[in-house]
Amino acid sequence: MRGRARGLDALTMTPASTAEIPKIAGPELKLSELAPRALQSEIRAMTMECDRIGGVNLAQGVCDTEPPAQVVEGAIAAIRAGHNIYTRLDGILRLRQAIAAKMLWFNGIEVNPETEILVASGATGGLHAAAMALLNRGDEVILFEPFYGYHASTLKSMRMVPVVVPLAAPVASDADWTLDMDALRAALTPRTRALIINTPSNPCGKIFTRAELEALAEIAVEHNLFLFTDEIYEHFVYGEAEHLSPITLPGMRERTILISGFSKTFSVTGWRLGYVVADAKWLGALNYFHDLTYVCAPSAFQHGAAHGLEEMGPEFYTQLAADHQAKRERIVAALTDAGMKPYIPRGAYYILADASQLPGENAALKARWLLAKSGVAAVAGSAFFRAGRGEDLLRFCFAKKDADLDDACTRLRTL
Ligand SMILES: Cc1ncc(COP(=O)(O)O)c(C=O)c1O
Repeated sequence: MRGRARGLDALTMTPASTAEIPKIAGPELKLSELAPRALQSEIRAMTMECDRIGGVNLAQGVCDTEPPAQVVEGAIAAIRAGHNIYTRLDGILRLRQAIAAKMLWFNGIEVNPETEILVASGATGGLHAAAMALLNRGDEVILFEPFYGYHASTLKSMRMVPVVVPLAAPVASDADWTLDMDALRAALTPRTRALIINTPSNPCGKIFTRAELEALAEIAVEHNLFLFTDEIYEHFVYGEAEHLSPITLPGMRERTILISGFSKTFSVTGWRLGYVVADAKWLGALNYFHDLTYVCAPSAFQHGAAHGLEEMGPEFYTQLAADHQAKRERIVAALTDAGMKPYIPRGAYYILADASQLPGENAALKARWLLAKSGVAAVAGSAFFRAGRGEDLLRFCFAKKDADLDDACTRLRTL
């Protein structure tokens, strides 16, 4: 061939063959220290297996109920009106104002939409930005078990240390998981910087009571800790239970980082739309880190959510809870008939059930057996506990269209 000099193509100056490039001794190509060994979560694995066999997926919290028309129409109108470009890094003013209005009527707190709200790329993006802005490598953060896996993994991905404190398991099917203050106090060290709570909780549906939140607030003040609150299921509250935002408790305004979003309330998990409410002195740094990763939340969808918040009154949220409470009753009955003792959730839209009598040495194998036998996908309870725990539990998501949920219930009853 003509035009080659020292293995490089004369025109493009690229090597004719990479084999010709002399190797300098150095480190091997490899994954980062942080790259997880298990590359896909158990939840995703079950979803893939469920799709393969055409089963009913109660594994992933995708929530495939219909989004409200006001939200959908608001987004479509926004696309047509040309709202397709980057927004201000903390979100459009219209949505921040709508969130502030909702914070006042629902959560009972006045928030400045100019300085105290970040519209984030999902609650997930909000937590990531908050951890980047407020925590350092090696900082310990307390999580309550059973926990939402992303909380632990997000912290680990930034080299923070999740410290798991178990909730006391319910003594009966209709009893609640409870906060064990002695276990919490025992877990505190000089490196503890924050607590994370998820109320209502995924996976167990626990709603922290006022007394529990006051006790947590006392600890947070005493030890000068941040409290991150994931309140994404705040509208999914059943029976007598009530949602209380810890940011409203005395002494908690400055140290609480409230995280919530629209994925669940408006059934738009794929829109990636959430928000953080926090003191103005933290928000600048949160905005900075959120901008670095996401630039902004999707523009047209921000308008859709704002339209939904503006147009729909409290009755929408009451109906949402009533609809999901009815779904909860159906799955509770089906699981009971199938011989799996359900732990009745106070909120959110998941249910943990005791699957100890199903074949399989651990929860992942029990979930696979259940899928093969009934065509219903659930998540191994172990996904929400430290290693070796939760192996008798399965988690079912009941935020499904009624027809799909009924199908799943019928299949469960055949066990
Ligand atoms: C407790 C909890 N927080 C956050 C999320 C994700 O929220 P987003 O879609 O707003 O990122 C989920 C989704 O399952 C969840 O269960």
